[in-house]
Amino acid sequence: MTESPKTATLTVHGDTYELPVHSPTAGPDVIDIRKLYGQAGVFTYDPGFTSTASCDSTITYIDGEKGELLHRGYPIDQLAEKSHFLEVCYLLLYGELPAAKDLETFETTITRHTMLHEQMQYFYRGFRRDAHPMAIMVGVVGAMSAFYHDSTDISDPRQREVASHRLIAKMPTIAAWAYKYHTGQPFVYPRNDLDYASNFLRMCFSVPAEDYEVNPILSRAMDRIFTLHADHEQNASTSTVRLASSSGANPFACIAAGIACLWGPAHGGANQACLEMLEEIGSVDRIPEYIARAKDKNDPFRLMGFGHRVYKNFDPRAKVMKQSADEVLDLLGIEDNPKLQVAKELEREALEDPYFTEKKLFPNVDFYSGIILEAMGFPTSMFTPIFALSRTVGWVSQWKEMIADPQNKIGRPRQLYLGETLRDYVDIENR
Ligand code: CMC
Repeated sequence: MTESPKTATLTVHGDTYELPVHSPTAGPDVIDIRKLYGQAGVFTYDPGFTSTASCDSTITYIDGEKGELLHRGYPIDQLAEKSHFLEVCYLLLYGELPAAKDLETFETTITRHTMLHEQMQYFYRGFRRDAHPMAIMVGVVGAMSAFYHDSTDISDPRQREVASHRLIAKMPTIAAWAYKYHTGQPFVYPRNDLDYASNFLRMCFSVPAEDYEVNPILSRAMDRIFTLHADHEQNASTSTVRLASSSGANPFACIAAGIACLWGPAHGGANQACLEMLEEIGSVDRIPEYIARAKDKNDPFRLMGFGHRVYKNFDPRAKVMKQSADEVLDLLGIEDNPKLQVAKELEREALEDPYFTEKKLFPNVDFYSGIILEAMGFPTSMFTPIFALSRTVGWVSQWKEMIADPQNKIGRPRQLYLGETLRDYVDIENR
């Protein structure tokens, strides 16, 4: 970061401080408060980080007002339409679209790392069969540091590279095996002649008893779901990965932390929660009841798949996802899917309601993704693991960027302490 000619003036307790202001290539200016505590002896307060830039980054840009999402400058709708997931992975990791030869090398590298260490099977077998696949994924990805010691030294750029490739390559196998274990079916090994999405579908849906032919339209839809979830700048799980890795923890441990964070229903768990909500609503005539509940301050119910911390306009990913849902259901000959009908009508009614428009609550990426995944044959419990698989490249790219940044230091927020002040210990008989 270069020295900024712009400053902001802050007066604290009668004293005035000049704070540098940095101008990004896009988005609002950022006031640099790094020296504030040293100079003025005060902290800033921002629970939920609604006004805080935690790092500088060149990977992803979101304009929440315009509903714009750019990866390395390229809009997500163009990438979803013209590119494919592994090319987007390359773009996120290395900053530019690959030349044909570089893409081929990258795809070969990823394909060659898809198998898991055979011993990991026994690790899977330690879980209860009814374990949620996300619980298995947190455990298995965390355990990768026990299986791949040769790529845990974060000070070695080559080891960082290998860890990145391993994570992107093995995540479909890890997620598919979590599913297979959960359903009681045998694990299916990856096949190097298939593309990334087809390989994942085959590892999930084929069984040794019969051949499984991957439908190219479904594999394209799967690839698009991966692409749409690939990165989203400093969201909760990515910030978790960055914070975990700021201590120097190994990449597998950090990505496991990201998966754990993603699981929550306010984040990646929303796709499962959204489909369960559509199921619970059941028919269009019950929509007003649920909209009323979402608006009721005394009811904790929220419309899942609606609203976003950053997007105050349509989530650009949701637009592509909605179109994809129509295409996939059409292809599969699923006419009159009741959940799609409820989803479309719910979206229509909510967007006509001032509660949602005034609060700028629009459908997000999770609103339609569950419908597609269910139509493909995935149970709701697999929705968030698929999000985790897709987001791995984003976590890894942000992690790589952070480790290579000389400004990187351990993340250590402070607090507004409101507890008791110093007091003497009271013996138990006197309490
Ligand atoms: N249904 C009803 N009301 C809502 C909703 C919703 N889905 N989302 C926000 N609101 C209301 C909220 O009650 C609050 O009202 P008031 O100002 O009167 O108190 C106002 O809108 C602002 O909400 P907030 O919770 O302060 O906003 P936030 O930026 O902290 O939360 C969110 C963002 C995504 C967590 C939230 O919109 C939400 O819980 N949505 C449902 C879960 C969901 O779909 N999450 C997926 C997000 S996209 C994928 C991802 O990031 O993983």
